Amino acid sequence: MSEIHNDLVEEIRRLKAERDAIIIAHNYQNPEVQDIADIVGDSLALARAAAKVPQSVIVFCGVHFMAESAAILSPDKTVLLPAIDAGCPLADMADAESVRAMREKHPDAAVVSYVNTSAAVKAESDICCTSANAVRVVQSLEEKRVIFVPDQNLAAYVAARVDKEIIPWPGYCPTHHRLQTDDVIKARAAHPEALVVVHPEVRPEVAEMADFVGSTAQMLDFAKQTDAKTLIIGTEMGMLHQLKKANPDKQFYLLSPRLVCPNMKRTTLTHVRDSLASLTPRITVDGDVRQRAVRALERMIEIG
Ligand code: 13P
Repeated sequence: MSEIHNDLVEEIRRLKAERDAIIIAHNYQNPEVQDIADIVGDSLALARAAAKVPQSVIVFCGVHFMAESAAILSPDKTVLLPAIDAGCPLADMADAESVRAMREKHPDAAVVSYVNTSAAVKAESDICCTSANAVRVVQSLEEKRVIFVPDQNLAAYVAARVDKEIIPWPGYCPTHHRLQTDDVIKARAAHPEALVVVHPEVRPEVAEMADFVGSTAQMLDFAKQTDAKTLIIGTEMGMLHQLKKANPDKQFYLLSPRLVCPNMKRTTLTHVRDSLASLTPRITVDGDVRQRAVRALERMIEIG
């Protein structure tokens, strides 16, 4: 690593101690950002961590809805999103008013919102879920019908595993949705010995072709315990970093070179340093929206 890189890492460590801060990073972050983080994980692990870390400042290296969830769960802490323009197009596909209208249309249905939603949408929801616990969350509900917001592919994945009617929202993650069955056919032809592992945000026809479907943390567990030595990974490219670190004896290939989330790639070490130095950009969620959103998030965390 260059001297500039080492100086930056040193400065981040010093500021982190001075500010009583913790750095939390999602599995899709740039490798150098993952490497300076205290906690790296999937959305569920990061939400759980945000709810209970003792530090007074949380530097959230991820996208906006993740930092927002941390601010909802820990309102007394300073939650920082180093790259303020790191959004989530999937989260932007649902708004509170449309969710309210959907609930009026289906008054007997529960509203389950994926954590990839705004605070305002969470506030309209009965419970949140992540890709790791979506099936468990839906199964835990008394209602026989569920409005599932906003990812249609995760909704299909859940619908195939529960004995309930799932009313999907027409949203999708542009990064995962662009994977096609042809990508799987080509990757398998190039690496016939490999197992194919995909995220439940991929299209159902792509998920059906995979050997394993799971959240980013579940992929990591699967890769550790499988006897297979070669795995083809169908999720955002940042995931390869933790997979390779934890399994130096295994080979990992990305299912498609197009598996890049530009928002997850926005955060750099310079952003992290500047954010710690200035304690900005700060994410806050106040009032009634926070009070209603926290119920949906805490109900999810109780289920696990
Ligand atoms: P995980 O919950 O599996 O980490 O996924 C987060 C996400 O935003 C997927 O696009």
